[in-house]
Amino acid sequence: MSNATGSIMSRIKLKKIPLIIICAVFLLTVGLYIRYFKHGAPEEILEANRRNFGSPKRKTHVDDTELQWMSFLETNHFVKIGGVYDSCEEEVRKTVGTSILLPDGKGGVKTRTYINMTLDIDVTEGVFYMEVKYNSQDLYSSQWDLCTLDEDFDDRLIFCPLKAGLHSWKKERKVPGYLPKGRYETKAWVTDQTEEIIACGMSDFIL
Ligand SMILES: *[C@@H]1O[C@H](CO)[C@@H](O)[C@H](O)[C@H]1NC(C)=O
Repeated sequence: MSNATGSIMSRIKLKKIPLIIICAVFLLTVGLYIRYFKHGAPEEILEANRRNFGSPKRKTHVDDTELQWMSFLETNHFVKIGGVYDSCEEEVRKTVGTSILLPDGKGGVKTRTYINMTLDIDVTEGVFYMEVKYNSQDLYSSQWDLCTLDEDFDDRLIFCPLKAGLHSWKKERKVPGYLPKGRYETKAWVTDQTEEIIACGMSDFIL
C-alpha cells in the first residue's frame, strides 16, 4: 500500500466514526424504546391481563353485588382489571363497581369503570385520593377536590352536591401510549364532607 492510499483510507475511517456513533445511538434508542415503551397490540395487552386477573384468588367471602358484577363481566367477555367497593377494608367491603380494559380503537387501550353506588347522604364536598405503584414500587400519589375532579372533561360526571340515592356511572380513560411497559397498581378512594370513605377502587394491570 502506498503512503498516499494509506492516508486516504485513514481519512475515510475518521469520517466514518461520527456516523457509526450516530447509528449506534439510534439503534440503542430504538432498542430501548421497543424494550421498555412500545406496547403490544391491544389484543396482546388484553390477553395478558385476562391471564393476570382472570384466575380469581381463593376468597373467603363474595358479596351478592360482587356476584352480579361477575356475571356482568362474564356476559360481556370483559377483561377485569379492578373493582370498586364501598370501603377499603377487604373484610367488610361491598362491591359497587368494576374496572375493565378494552381497545381504544386507535391502536391503544383504555380503561372503563362502571359504578352503581348508593349514597346515604348528600355529598356536598369531598376529596379524591390516588396512589399508583409501578412494578411494586411507589410511583405517584396525589389528591384532588372531589367536586371539581373532572370539571375540565367533556364527559364530566361529578356535580356537587351528589344527591343521596343510587348513582350509575360509567367513566372511560385512555391509557397513555407513552407509559413504559410493566405492572401498574392503583388505589383510589373518596371521602365525603364528614371525612368518611364512601368509595374505594383498586386496579392492577400490565402493559
Ligand atoms: C348497574 O345499574 C344499571 C342501571 O341502573 C343496571 O342496568 C345494571 O344492571 C347495574 N349493574 C349491576 C352489575 O348491578
